[in-house]
Amino acid sequence: MRFITVNSYEELSRKAANIIASQVISKPNCVLGLATGSSPVGTYKKLIEYCNNGDLDFSTVTSVNLDEYVGLTGENDQSYRYFMNTNLFNHVNIIPENTYVPNGCAENLEEEGKNYDKLIADLGGIDLQLLGIGLDGHIGFNEPDEFFVGATHPVTLDPSTIEANARFFVSMDEVPRKAITMGMMSIMQAKKILLIANGSNKKEILEKAMYGEITPKVPASILQLHPDVTVIFSEN
Ligand code: GLP
Repeated sequence: MRFITVNSYEELSRKAANIIASQVISKPNCVLGLATGSSPVGTYKKLIEYCNNGDLDFSTVTSVNLDEYVGLTGENDQSYRYFMNTNLFNHVNIIPENTYVPNGCAENLEEEGKNYDKLIADLGGIDLQLLGIGLDGHIGFNEPDEFFVGATHPVTLDPSTIEANARFFVSMDEVPRKAITMGMMSIMQAKKILLIANGSNKKEILEKAMYGEITPKVPASILQLHPDVTVIFSEN
């Protein structure tokens, strides 16, 4: 595992974007696993800049996102599909049909999970998976549990996650209680993993995840078993 500490969010975003850019340049038809949250926003801004400068071409890239809230359509401005469209997809030359986000409005979420895993497998797996980390150690929406879940699956969000996500909603009541998330199998099968975290409040959980016991109670700790993980952390 490579652990890179940087001094600012700007530097974190630039480094992360450069790693993603190098993936896209070296394999133009790659599959990118993408993430939401506040951490990747700066990274996506840089990628948009590179694309607009003509330095990066997304026209043959496919993307698969980690997760989605249950019950929110893509038109809802709190959905992760909307987040991805507005923070990245609408501003680069990726083909919209080649961008995938789990469907949180699927009637049968278990079935949706199975289809999503099949889709990822049919694409040949993920070349580079971008991750953030929740304050409770979650990746995607894989919350602390008694066991790791492999498949894409529906989850009930932890109270601490609901609280953390409330900052994006008008009121606590509006924060969805359920989500659908890629499981550990597709994440761990990604060829490369890039985890970004910023803010001093992430330091403790990050250290626990990277150097502590490997346990489903700290979901990100499973990454210690992955052969190619880069972590970029900025305390500021
Ligand atoms: C949400 C997302 C995660 C993300 C986490 C951290 O829970 N499902 O994928 O990593 O938020 O978000 P932030 O980057 O805003 O701290």
